[in-house]
Amino acid sequence: MNVRERMRPWIGEISNYVPGEYREGYVKLASNENNYGPSPKVVEALRQWSGRTQIYPYRGEELREKLAEYVGVKKENIVCGNGSDELIDLVVKAFKGPNAGSYPSFAEYPIVSRINGEKYTPVKLEDDFAFNAEKFLAGAGDCNLMFLCTPNNPTGLSIPEGEIMKVVESGKIVVVDEAYYEFSGKTVVGRIRDNPNMIVLRTMAKSFALAGLRIGYAVADPEVIEALLKVKPPFNVNTLAEAAAIAALDDIEYMEETVKKVKLGKEAIYKALKGKFKPLESDSNFVFADVTPMTSEEFAEKLLEARITVRRFGKLEGYPGDYVRVNAGTEEENMKFAEALSKM
Ligand SMILES: Cc1ncc(COP(=O)(O)O)c(C=O)c1O
Repeated sequence: MNVRERMRPWIGEISNYVPGEYREGYVKLASNENNYGPSPKVVEALRQWSGRTQIYPYRGEELREKLAEYVGVKKENIVCGNGSDELIDLVVKAFKGPNAGSYPSFAEYPIVSRINGEKYTPVKLEDDFAFNAEKFLAGAGDCNLMFLCTPNNPTGLSIPEGEIMKVVESGKIVVVDEAYYEFSGKTVVGRIRDNPNMIVLRTMAKSFALAGLRIGYAVADPEVIEALLKVKPPFNVNTLAEAAAIAALDDIEYMEETVKKVKLGKEAIYKALKGKFKPLESDSNFVFADVTPMTSEEFAEKLLEARITVRRFGKLEGYPGDYVRVNAGTEEENMKFAEALSKM
């Protein structure tokens, strides 16, 4: 029996998502996580809920209320996902393609588009990785659904609000992925009220240090949220994730304190890289750098010798460098990184 013949024809062409490298006992600076970890209130909530896994999740509405309060919108403007990854998928399911996004940007936009059988057009950023709305719209052509990421993963650069709004004014569906919002402090969430074609994605994986529990949310016009609720699997956010997210939102102060430390750490990572390579100034919790004359492979291998993992990007089509992405860790981890770099 030929299984391949019975598959959706595009499945064979899809590239798998490659996660940041985890090695036991190594410092991980490869997935833009918050290495300070979650609030003690989260740990306590998980302890309390750990014996109640027989119950289907039922705190979804409470979590939506909490997030609405945090964002400054109504509950009807919020839908939660199993990570913002799932929300990308729900948006692609609910809205017609074809799709487009910047290049380089978050790898999941093309992958999820292709999984859903949609065409995805990558539109190259400027040579200095800046975003230009006119060029983007021209490159995106007849696309109906567009992904903007700000600050952008992997470059760390924010898209100015004026440029985002030029894209939104096209009237097409525009996803603004603000996964790193707490690090940049910049958001367009206030523009949703007047722009029902805009969907802001956020995550609790990064600043709130809940990556392992998978909690993301979308903020949009209630009509968009209704559509996303229709395509959402029931119980997509599990009981422990709900409990953790609610506890984390009860301790915003803890998140803000760690974000402050991470931002200082990012400066330390930038400075360490600046001494030898060509890093971009980042608005996020990570730094993207051209490590030529080394290759990204050589760079990453050297760091492995110091028991540190980073993200290798290698060569990017249309750009001259060889690139890596390094996130800020704890103060001690950043010092270890700087020390390893000084030996290169
Ligand atoms: C820009 C961007 N969007 C979304 C995500 C996915 O986040 P989550 O862990 O909430 O699925 C990431 C994770 O790296 C990201 O960088």
